This record gives sequence, C-alpha cells and structure tokens, in this order.
Amino acid sequence: MRKNNKIKAIAVLCSGGDAPGMNAALRAVVRSGIYHGLEVHGVYRGYSGLLEGNLELMTKRSVANIIQRGGTIIKTARCKAFFQASAREEAVHILKRKNIDALVVIGGEGSYTGAYLMSKENGFPVVGLPGTIDNDIFGSEYSIGFDTAVNTALDAIDKIRDTASSHDRVFLVEVMGRTSAEIAIRVGVSGGAEVIVLPSPKKRLSDWSDSTLKKLKTSARQGKLSSIVVVAEGDHPGCTYELAQKLKRKGGIDSRVAILGHIQRGGSPSAMDRFMGSLMGATAVEEILKRAPQENLAISIGVQNGKITSIPLKASIGKHKKVDQNMLKLAATLAI
Ligand code: F6P
Repeated sequence: MRKNNKIKAIAVLCSGGDAPGMNAALRAVVRSGIYHGLEVHGVYRGYSGLLEGNLELMTKRSVANIIQRGGTIIKTARCKAFFQASAREEAVHILKRKNIDALVVIGGEGSYTGAYLMSKENGFPVVGLPGTIDNDIFGSEYSIGFDTAVNTALDAIDKIRDTASSHDRVFLVEVMGRTSAEIAIRVGVSGGAEVIVLPSPKKRLSDWSDSTLKKLKTSARQGKLSSIVVVAEGDHPGCTYELAQKLKRKGGIDSRVAILGHIQRGGSPSAMDRFMGSLMGATAVEEILKRAPQENLAISIGVQNGKITSIPLKASIGKHKKVDQNMLKLAATLAI
C-alpha cells in the first residue's frame, strides 16, 4: 500500500471461463478508473498472467470498440497454482512492486475464492465482479454473461424444435452451468421445454431417468408428438448420452441428443450484459475510491433486489444458490 494512503493505481483481470460482457466490464473499469485519475493496469490471462507479471498499462483507447465483442480481450485462464497460498503471496508482491493498490477480479466463484484468500492472507484490497454464464454466485441475483448464454441456448432450442416437431421426436438438449441449475431453468421455462432435468450428485442416473421417462410418457398421453428435454450438465458434462440410452432401454424412447457446449460462452453480449458489465465495472472503481485504502477491503459487486450493491466477498464463497422450485413448477404447469 502507498504511504499516503491514497489509491493511485489499480489492476483488473478476468479469470475462469470467459463470459460475454466481460469486455464491457473491463472497458468500464478502465475508463472510469482513468476518468477518476487512476492508473489502470490490465492483467493478461488471469491469475496465471499475474504470476508471470503479464500486466500492461491501459489507456482510454486500449478498450475502444470492445463493448460489442464476446470473450475478453485481456484473455482468461483457470489457474491451479493459485490454490497455493505461496502463489497468492507472490501475486501480491508483483502487484506491490508495480505500485498497484487494488485488484478487480472479473470471474466466477472459483476466481472469487482466490481473490478473497489473496486479500485475507496478504492484506491487499480486492473487488470481485460477477462474470460467469452460470449465474451461480451466491449473494448476487445476476452475473455478467448469463443473459447472452441463455439467449444463445434459446436460439438453438427454437431451431431444434423445428426438427423435433417435423419428425415427432424427443430431443435432449444439454446446457452448461456446471453445478448451477440457473441456465437450465431459465432456458427451460423460456423455451417451453416439456421437461427440465437437473442431475444432482445425490441422485443416481436411474432416478432422474425414471422421472424423465414418466414425464415424457405423460406428455405423449396428453397428445404431444415431440418434446424438448433441457438437461443441466451438472457435474458430468455429456451425461445426456447416458440419459438417452436409459430412455431407450427402459421406455423404448428413441431420442436425439444435442450438447450445446461452448457456443453458450461465445458471441456478442446482449444489451443486458453490456449494461450490467458497464454498471458493475464503474461501481467497482467507485467502491475502491470510496472504501480503499483499507488493507482488508474484500468486496464484490452484485445485484440484490434488482439493485447494484456491494457485499463482502466472503459472503459469496462456499455457498450455493438454491434451485428455484417455483420455476420448476411453472415449467411443469406450462408444459401440459
Ligand atoms: O463456468 C463456466 C462454464 O462454462 C461452465 O458452465 C462449464 O461447466 C465450464 O465453464 C466449462 O469449462 P471449460 O471451458 O474449462 O471446459
């Protein structure tokens, strides 16, 4: 930290899976930082790049023409080394050597954990910005990238429905989200899915394939000739192939599988993700100016009751959002 306790320079990085809108958030951090008279350093390739000292001083123009671009121009990475306290200490040394006073981390839960531990162990101010398509950050109703990913998946489902209905077929569409059900539920309700399947580590494949089979049989009895089943990837990306086999073996249902995969992470961010990225990025800088220098500043910017707010980073770590049972009920009610 600087001797006169005044924040003069900050750094920003993206970490974990990229998410559409990360560029909008980056642009907002850089431009509002510069607007308020700060030096802003971009860290390339997340925590890995930070450990390699891969930082660059950003200018207003470094972030020109990026608000509409998917991915992140400063790149991102998943960094195993950052699980080690020694790596987090080294990262702080690197930041301090460059006279950087605070770090903004745009990423998901794993990235938040790294940021929180780095701050707690070494007394370095950090601010987290929720950037993940999974929308799984506890304590924030929204994360940058979710809306675009949902729209991408929805676009695919609308297309799949054309072929499902032409062939009177069942399609199993697997969406991303890791252990979070947020994408599956939003896409299932908005895409009019007949069934939403949420595999959980506690339930065996035979349990959820039985309940899916039951629902599909009911749909068929009710006169539905084709069905869309949205499957959350859960802990096992690709698990939908097993589900298809079970449905065939146990119920004679001949389905087709579509794994949407990484297309959900790409593409130009929606208006929502550009807007949220801009708002959250600017708020992160304002919070740093307001609250740092506090050596123990460790907060995240999030949405609560529809409003942008800041919450302790610790509150988001190690906790999981509950599956919204009301939304599952809604999907089932509307699928009759
Ligand atoms: O966290 C974002 C996410 O896209 C998850 O939905 C998905 O399970 C995971 O990343 C895939 O990670 P990777 O790109 O490293 O394979």
